[in-house]
Amino acid sequence: MKLGLIGNPIKHSLSPWIHNQLLKQANIPGEYNLYELEPGSFAAQMELLKKEGLAGFNVTVPFKQKIMMELDAVDEQAKLIGAVNTVKIENGQWKGFNTDGKGFLNSLRVKYPDICNADRKVLILGAGGAAKGIFHTLVHAGFENIDIANRTTDRVKEMTKSNDTSDGAGIITLADAEQRVADYDLIIQTTTVGMKPHEEQQIISLDNIREGTVVSDIVYQPLMTAFLKEAAESGARIHQGHEMLLYQAVYAFEIWTGTSLDEHGLLEALEAQLK
Ligand code: ATR
Repeated sequence: MKLGLIGNPIKHSLSPWIHNQLLKQANIPGEYNLYELEPGSFAAQMELLKKEGLAGFNVTVPFKQKIMMELDAVDEQAKLIGAVNTVKIENGQWKGFNTDGKGFLNSLRVKYPDICNADRKVLILGAGGAAKGIFHTLVHAGFENIDIANRTTDRVKEMTKSNDTSDGAGIITLADAEQRVADYDLIIQTTTVGMKPHEEQQIISLDNIREGTVVSDIVYQPLMTAFLKEAAESGARIHQGHEMLLYQAVYAFEIWTGTSLDEHGLLEALEAQLK
């Protein structure tokens, strides 16, 4: 089975490592290749990709939205999110899915089942592609108390506009979020702040956090961001970015192969790859 990833830059992606482990575990002969595409001439590069004989591929930055124009069908959840991270190819037909939000929520459910109740109060920091996937998945799962804070408020309005819950989401500033940190049971950091090596900058400070609050950061390089360090030191429980990374891959693999695997054993090995 031939699989792959399109994106740019992707040289340091861990997806080949993860999917090669999954192929091995499922006893499926196959390969997972990287296709680092140039941002121009996308459609022409897609024509070339069609000749690769792929059974499916993942899509990452900056093509998660652009790919949607090339698809024959898009799954409902991916349509709502407005982005695709997984494409399945069957009889030459390309169908798009988004496993980011599902990967996030299920990795959280495995680690902290108590926090995955719909009545929990949630704060999402950020309004980019990752935030969108997580937000719509939480709404779909029934979460009703979600506030979103982003540097650019207009982006939050855009992101929540197709939200069909009666409550809607609260749009607040980052400064407000910092003041109200103690109100939340779950805080999800989805921005790129903290991603550079040794970056000590944090999106907000967690001074007022309650013990036991779950703090999640989707950044996985470094594994322990300054944001998560402060959370752990303040008695919060932490959920790290590589957990979502692994689960979104497992769900993509399931879409391509119909095989669902036990990912537990892989988390520690993935952690070792990142250290
Ligand atoms: P992606 O789609 O890959 O998630 P993105 O759309 O660029 O990437 O989103 C990045 C997120 O990080 C956004 O929420 C962005 O805030 P803006 O919408 O205001 O741009 C946030 N972000 C990036 N750098 C930031 C910074 N220095 N301070 C605050 N927020 C930042």
